[in-house]
Amino acid sequence: MESSHRPIVPSSGGPIGLFDSGVGGLSVWRALVERLPAESTVYLADQAHAPYGPRSLSEVRELARAAAGWLIEQGAKLVVAACNTASAAALDDLRREWPRIPFVGMEPAIKPASERTKTGRVGVMATPGTLTAPRFHHLVERFASGVEVHTQVCPGLVEWVEAGRLNGPEVMADLRRLLRPLTAAGVDHLVLGCTHYPFLAPAIQQVMGDKVTLVDPAPAVARQVERVLAERGLLAPASSTPQHRLATTGDPTRFRETLAALERAGEIELNAAVIARKENARL
Ligand code: DGL
Repeated sequence: MESSHRPIVPSSGGPIGLFDSGVGGLSVWRALVERLPAESTVYLADQAHAPYGPRSLSEVRELARAAAGWLIEQGAKLVVAACNTASAAALDDLRREWPRIPFVGMEPAIKPASERTKTGRVGVMATPGTLTAPRFHHLVERFASGVEVHTQVCPGLVEWVEAGRLNGPEVMADLRRLLRPLTAAGVDHLVLGCTHYPFLAPAIQQVMGDKVTLVDPAPAVARQVERVLAERGLLAPASSTPQHRLATTGDPTRFRETLAALERAGEIELNAAVIARKENARL
């Protein structure tokens, strides 16, 4: 795409683009909006293809390419792959395909968890895609020497968040079952390695108990976005009036319902954000 007629040159007036398989990336979006209040954003929830976790890396790579391409068409000056699975599968390819666009991705926060653990045992909740990708193994080799890393795939949790269900007996029962091995292992830090999971943080904390620290990388990612924009002279002027647009590849009614549930739970504040189906969300 970069090689086609019109070179893509990011401009400071453009929005920050973010994408995820669904609403999970909004846990990154909210950190970004808090840190950079003058910035506009455009968010794509690829709900027609969610969840990404059980898909092959090559499938996720194609979906990530389509999502990033759409955000860049919308004028995104930087793209956040607000999805650990897509970052593990596709970040290098996206950077190769659009060399002028800065990309920021997610990775499980193994480094801070390994630095802070007192028991020498950390847990990681993530999708199969994230945990089987070579990136994850490099991360463990590089930052967790001498630390036991206990991984846990969590089928069903993405679906609960997509349904706007952040607690209640069924969610708690799933969490208790999924987290039992991590409690038994005595982890004192638990990395939320999927952007959907921070929305379940109060429920996860309840199951793990107060002695376990949950690690959400979103604030660090927001700082990284700020650094990259500043380095490239792409920060929006402080006087800008930000606009936020959220689009889905799936059913917009369902999308709105999930967003409303996240708002009611106090997890996000959408204010005047524009919500649309992808096809109707073009500038
Ligand atoms: N929120 C995503 C992640 O961070 C994707 C979850 C999924 O679609 O399976 O991995």
